[in-house]
Amino acid sequence: MAKFGNSIIKGLEISEIITVLNKAYADEWLAYYQYFIEAKVVKGIMKDAAIAELIQHAADELRHADMVANRILQLGGTPLLNPKDWFTHTNCGYGEPKDLDVVSILKDSIKGEQCAISIYSKLVDMTRDKDIVTYDIVSQILADEVEHEEDLQALHDDITEFITDIKKSLS
Ligand SMILES: [Fe+2]
Ligand SMILES: [Fe+2]
Repeated sequence: MAKFGNSIIKGLEISEIITVLNKAYADEWLAYYQYFIEAKVVKGIMKDAAIAELIQHAADELRHADMVANRILQLGGTPLLNPKDWFTHTNCGYGEPKDLDVVSILKDSIKGEQCAISIYSKLVDMTRDKDIVTYDIVSQILADEVEHEEDLQALHDDITEFITDIKKSLS
């Protein structure tokens, strides 16, 4: 534990920061797995573009889990040790892909990113001017989640536009 480093935290209980970071940690692992499995099972038109994006997002979520775990340890906490705990701690839940069509998978993933954005935005507000190190980490992750939403939305729009054009040319 970074004793002196942690002594500069003001106006927040360290235990409270560890609790919210563990919840975010659970979200990151579930998001990682969601993208990992979606990239394997996704079907439909332009799926290769979607697979490339989903694989990239999976790598980013795993990197986020690593960043959050390291901060929990610095604060003297323990990252969740059992995957079972991911489900009891998660903010955003796990969006099991039910419809494997690429458009549906992208829609599910956009919802997940929007949840992540709202959670990290709250963590940014909570830590601003109080715990600068956690603030820096959650700000970086927030920027990634905003980029994720944008990438998925752009891909979703390209694919749906392409489908509309094909339908028009066939009618
Ligand atoms: Fe993430
Ligand atoms: Fe994300």
